[in-house]
Amino acid sequence: MGALAESYKDTLLEPQHIPLDYGSVHTLPDSHVWLDESDESPSGVHSTGPPVIDLADPDAARLIIQACETWGVFQLIGHGIPTKLMEDVQSEAEKLFDLPVDQKMKALRSPGGSQSGYGLPPISPFFEKLMWHEGYHIMGSPIDHAKLLWPNDYQGFCDTMVHYRSQLKALTEQLIRIIFKSLNINPDEVAWLKESQGLSIGLQLNCYPPCPDPTRAMGIAPHTDTSLITVLQQSKVSGLQVFKEGAGWVLVQPVPGAITVNLGDFFHILSNGVFTTVRHRVVATRIRRLSFAYFYAPPGDFIVSPVLSKDFGEVPRYQTLSVKEYVGIKGKHFEKALSVIQN
Ligand code: OGA
Ligand code: NI
Repeated sequence: MGALAESYKDTLLEPQHIPLDYGSVHTLPDSHVWLDESDESPSGVHSTGPPVIDLADPDAARLIIQACETWGVFQLIGHGIPTKLMEDVQSEAEKLFDLPVDQKMKALRSPGGSQSGYGLPPISPFFEKLMWHEGYHIMGSPIDHAKLLWPNDYQGFCDTMVHYRSQLKALTEQLIRIIFKSLNINPDEVAWLKESQGLSIGLQLNCYPPCPDPTRAMGIAPHTDTSLITVLQQSKVSGLQVFKEGAGWVLVQPVPGAITVNLGDFFHILSNGVFTTVRHRVVATRIRRLSFAYFYAPPGDFIVSPVLSKDFGEVPRYQTLSVKEYVGIKGKHFEKALSVIQN
């Protein structure tokens, strides 16, 4: 187990619950009723969403940096991930979530934020209410868990997920290089990036089952990602919303073939607060929605220190600390983690 996974394990509360057997539930149980968030009216759900950027556009780098400042999220086309591979991931994930609940339970993940297997979202221990969600997390080799799900027929799933993850890793590292340059960090001087040894915290397959009462339920509660960057493939069904100052919750409408890219807390700290770590949530829907999130972070011992310059400010807004230390603070303070390390 990597250092980062180890520190998640130490700091997160044990998940007390397992996903519902959604196929057998026809009304929303009390355990899954979320109160309306009166301070966060969904006024912005109809505003224009984050930008769509073509990575093949000669102006892509400038547009990406602009999106990092204004939104902390954008949708990427021209990214080079083969359509067929994206479709294969979708059908392998459908096959997984279509399994009988007893079968999925065989691959139940052990407690901790970033362990492999089937279960509730990693952030669920921070909330009293349960989310209308089932997920499957892949860390390291998917084989052991996949064998539990399909004793004789696991290879297709594993090959697809491993291939997809390696393509996403390359794409993510390409984006990190672009963003590092804007921070005046030379990507070739960052050993883990040069050697492609950043930490893939994992590939999280998310399933939001059909919900009988979507307005009172929650797909994934509001959070920011404990990553440098997260790249997400959404199915055709919309549900992801991002919080935009002045607009409220804004829908990230799926664009066919696009990958949604969002920044996490580490880019926010590195950019001295100039790049947005976007707060996001997923609303429940009447029809099933799938999404696949790939989280990428620097290694646990990487020191995250705000870059100081005329553009990014000359006074550090955040304390300098290691990735591992920050993960520990996030595990304790969750949404307040950034204010805990603020100067
Ligand atoms: C996540 C997440 C968004 C989605 O897994 O952290 O925010 O659309 N997912 O499922
Ligand atoms: Ni997220």
